[in-house]
Amino acid sequence: MMGLLIESQKENEVKWTLESIAWYRVTEMLSRRKPWHCMAKGLILGCLLTGFLLLLYSYAIAPSQVAMAKASTPSRCSSPPTLPANITKGSCWPKLDIVFMKTHKTASSTLLNILFRFGQKHRLKFAFPSGYNDFNYPSFFKRSLVHNYQPGDCFNIICNHMRFYYSEVRSLVAPNATFITVLRDPAHLFESSFHYFGLVVPFTWKLTGHNKLAKFLQDPNRYYNPRGFNAYYLHNLLFFDLGYNNELDPRSPQVAEHILEVEQRFHLVMLQEYFDESLVLLKELLCWELEDILYFKLNARRASAVSPLTGELYRRATDWNKLDALLYRHFNASFWRKVEAFGRERMAQEVASLRRENKRMERICIDGEHAVDAKDIEKPSLQPWQAMGAKTILGYNLKKHISHQYDQLCRKMVTPDIQYMTELGVNLWVTKLWWYIRMLLQI
Ligand SMILES: *[C@@H]1O[C@H](CO)[C@@H](O)[C@H](O)[C@H]1NC(C)=O
Ligand SMILES: *[C@@H]1O[C@H](CO)[C@@H](O)[C@H](O)[C@H]1NC(C)=O
Ligand SMILES: *[C@@H]1O[C@H](CO)[C@@H](O)[C@H](O)[C@H]1NC(C)=O
Repeated sequence: MMGLLIESQKENEVKWTLESIAWYRVTEMLSRRKPWHCMAKGLILGCLLTGFLLLLYSYAIAPSQVAMAKASTPSRCSSPPTLPANITKGSCWPKLDIVFMKTHKTASSTLLNILFRFGQKHRLKFAFPSGYNDFNYPSFFKRSLVHNYQPGDCFNIICNHMRFYYSEVRSLVAPNATFITVLRDPAHLFESSFHYFGLVVPFTWKLTGHNKLAKFLQDPNRYYNPRGFNAYYLHNLLFFDLGYNNELDPRSPQVAEHILEVEQRFHLVMLQEYFDESLVLLKELLCWELEDILYFKLNARRASAVSPLTGELYRRATDWNKLDALLYRHFNASFWRKVEAFGRERMAQEVASLRRENKRMERICIDGEHAVDAKDIEKPSLQPWQAMGAKTILGYNLKKHISHQYDQLCRKMVTPDIQYMTELGVNLWVTKLWWYIRMLLQI
């Protein structure tokens, strides 16, 4: 049993996170000089919950994970699912086999929602993780992590967070599956990641002062420790997510090789800054309908919680994430070549109709026609997952009366990914348990 436990890195992660939370709570309490009995209560509660979670976890997960790990015979996904005869559009067939490499902090939750809806509409087979909403991130993807995986299994859509491992992913989808991903200007991505994950990266706790981000960027090497827990969140996160070494020397010839590899493996690399243009290119590539790419921004932060990165700070953030900057520069250029090939004029028209339709859906679905703070979201089923220690992610309230025709679509479009995955039948018990614990501890 002990040997099995060592294998599951996730458990370590849960434990570590819990420990960092407990520690965070204690330091917070100390700094606010809360009465000792309050601290003691928090600590006892924290310890009890940690113990309970670990116990539950080790019993429920370890054996099945080991059983699945044995199943590593290669699979052939040669017979794609047959399309219903009535789905046609012009001269092309909508493509149903998609791998979305979901990067962090890049509007990827919005795209996830689009994929969930499309998959549901066409009754596609998703490869989902089990227990959590990611594939054991930050460990590399393994096919055995897919829920109920049997050797030879083939899936239509893979789209949850993972650390990319091409050959493993490749083996689970049809040979002509479309690979897509999304990138973002690394300076802004860094700011977002720092805000969202900063608290679970212990070396940031040393940072003092009001603007920790600026402090860090003044001399990153003074604070950064590549072996620190969760360190990858704050250094070339795109490179890391895509499965490469995020600590490579930017002058290494491997950098260009990796970038080229991404180019060869992915049919479309979208950009968060040009999300609508990206979706139009996606729609074209996959032969989808406009309806398929409609969206409301999900998992977005309140504007006041975004620290604008300008001038010197922007330059420093770009410098610090040099590998991602090189990656982004490459795909920014290829993106605009694709737009050029698509036709600038045509692109402008398609973007305009996408925005018009999104606006129309907003008027149909959303109460007040805009996103609201977490505390103003009425239904728990529409509460988004929040970063540790701050409730800055916005969500939506649906209108009270929505015509029957749009009822389902509206609800799906505003459903955060955790709840949507539950609806799609994924067992997320660890994620949910963690959610309740956080609610209890109010973190
Ligand atoms: C295809 O046909 C089936 C049965 O005739 C129908 O239920 C389904 O809605 C149709 N799908 C589309 C996309 O038109
Ligand atoms: C994928 O390839 C199969 C043959 O292997 C073909 O029948 C199918 O139409 C292709 N799908 C797309 C969307 O190109
Ligand atoms: C991306 O490319 C566009 C068009 O060439 C350019 O205007 C923009 O500055 C580039 N963005 C970055 C962050 O390099």
